[in-house]
Amino acid sequence: MKDNISKFQLENKIAIVMGGCGLVGEEICNIFASAKAKVIIVDIDKKKGKLLENKIKKFNNNVVYKFFDINKKNNLELKFRKLIKTYKCPDVFVNCSYPMTKDWQLNTFQNITKKSMDDNILLHLGSYSWFAREIAELMFKNKVRGSIIQLGSIYGIKGQDLNVYDKTSMKESMTYSIIKGGIINLTRQMASYYGKKGIRINTLCPGGLVGPVQGKSLKQESNFIKNYSKKVPLGRLGTAEEVSCAALFLASEASSYITGTTLMIDGGWTSI
Ligand SMILES: NC(=O)c1ccc[n+]([C@@H]2O[C@H](COP(=O)([O-])OP(=O)(O)OC[C@H]3O[C@@H](n4cnc5c(N)ncnc54)[C@H](O)[C@@H]3O)[C@@H](O)[C@H]2O)c1
Repeated sequence: MKDNISKFQLENKIAIVMGGCGLVGEEICNIFASAKAKVIIVDIDKKKGKLLENKIKKFNNNVVYKFFDINKKNNLELKFRKLIKTYKCPDVFVNCSYPMTKDWQLNTFQNITKKSMDDNILLHLGSYSWFAREIAELMFKNKVRGSIIQLGSIYGIKGQDLNVYDKTSMKESMTYSIIKGGIINLTRQMASYYGKKGIRINTLCPGGLVGPVQGKSLKQESNFIKNYSKKVPLGRLGTAEEVSCAALFLASEASSYITGTTLMIDGGWTSI
């Protein structure tokens, strides 16, 4: 009998996790390290980065934190290349960063400014697109049949259901839908081009997760949790751990025939 379970392991693989200190990123770093990958945590948050590196070292010594600031737009491509050059070409690259401007929460239809929209598109969609392309080219040059994973969202394929914001201070975002829609379709386009070179690229699309609201507060409002849970078929928010399990699948040989897909981790949100 074939040992197909070993296909879920990442032994001898190098995985770079951009945004590795975040809610989703930390869980992805944890599960990749548990699956025996060498994990390179890349993030702007030095304090959390060092803490996570030390935490992971307790069970996998093959981990390192590297500082990187996506917001430093000048020479971003050179800085990214320099960062990547320190290591051998990665087998796995995950982008779960969430770069944003200070006024991100004002990206509603009423309050948005053209500058904020442009800046956030450049920061988030621009960096996700460019880093994915840089890594794919590097994998191609090094003959690495790698896996690239982009973080999308249910709001990259559907409009927001504003009913879930009833009796909360939460609002819709104009820019988020542009960014996540763009990431998802670039993934398809890259899968088309890089598939012939043996490189896979997929998008993970979480629905609402238990945790902080980016750029706003440390936890979600109770009315939001109630409204959201009522609408979603599985009746609750998701967790970062659930996203990390899907990331391990897409990173590993277990998903060797999957590319260009948009994998929903949304409790059925987009099925209705
Ligand atoms: N949390 C959710 O409910 C949810 C739902 C759907 C999709 N997503 C997507 O998942 C991804 C991760 O989300 P999250 O909830 O883990 O976010 P998070 O804010 O917890 O983590 C993002 C990480 O990116 C890092 N980062 C921010 N700006 C940076 C910069 N300029 N340079 C380098 N690193 C920077 C942060 O330090 C942080 O560690 C995002 O793309 C998000 O859109 C999240």
